[in-house]
Amino acid sequence: MTQPATLELRELAVTDLDRVAEIEAASNASPWSRSLFAGELEMTTAERLWIVGEADNVVVGFAGAMFVGGDVHIMNVAVEPGCRRRGFARVLVAELLRRAIASGGRHATLEVREGNDPAIALYRRFRLGPVGIRPGYYPDGEDALILWAHDIDTVEYAALLKRLGGR
Ligand SMILES: CC(C)(COP(=O)(O)OP(=O)(O)OC[C@H]1O[C@@H](n2cnc3c(N)ncnc32)[C@H](O)[C@@H]1OP(=O)(O)O)[C@@H](O)C(=O)NCCC(=O)NCCS
Repeated sequence: MTQPATLELRELAVTDLDRVAEIEAASNASPWSRSLFAGELEMTTAERLWIVGEADNVVVGFAGAMFVGGDVHIMNVAVEPGCRRRGFARVLVAELLRRAIASGGRHATLEVREGNDPAIALYRRFRLGPVGIRPGYYPDGEDALILWAHDIDTVEYAALLKRLGGR
């Protein structure tokens, strides 16, 4: 495992929306629109958590989650295509989960395209493993894998986040 990259992390702000939508458009076959991200900022901190990562003062990635009771539902994660394989997603997801756990999150879940090997490999590092399939979940008909990690509010999981995210 390469050393986690240096990334400044902070909450998503309105001024990030253009850049985040740009990264999203370059990252996903069915990208979220800018207005969808803007709507996320209208939600309360009890409902949503969105962070961005900056390298040299430029936003290079983002990650967001929704709270459903004690479940942290990871909604979207992307890194600028030219900045991948430097550990940025690892740092982003580690920080997202760390903040979510601090807000009461106990389990993590998400859907991922079944053919998205990079994302599945990323999430496996966070012990998010497959528990089922949602057939035809995506607009183009691709199935989603449902991933879960249970009991993330433990000392052991905090150590894993530290290893993966380096903070
Ligand atoms: C998935 C994604 C966020 C990974 O971002 P990244 O910054 O390149 O990932 P990292 O460098 O932090 O890699 C972390 C781990 O993920 C896995 N991984 C990332 N990219 C991979 C690839 N192309 N092939 C295989 N494994 C990969 C590896 O396990 C890696 O750990 P390692 O570097 O120790 O081997 C990025 O590829 C992306 O934005 N993809 C498009 C959007 C997307 O699919 N988002 C997920 C939707 S749920």
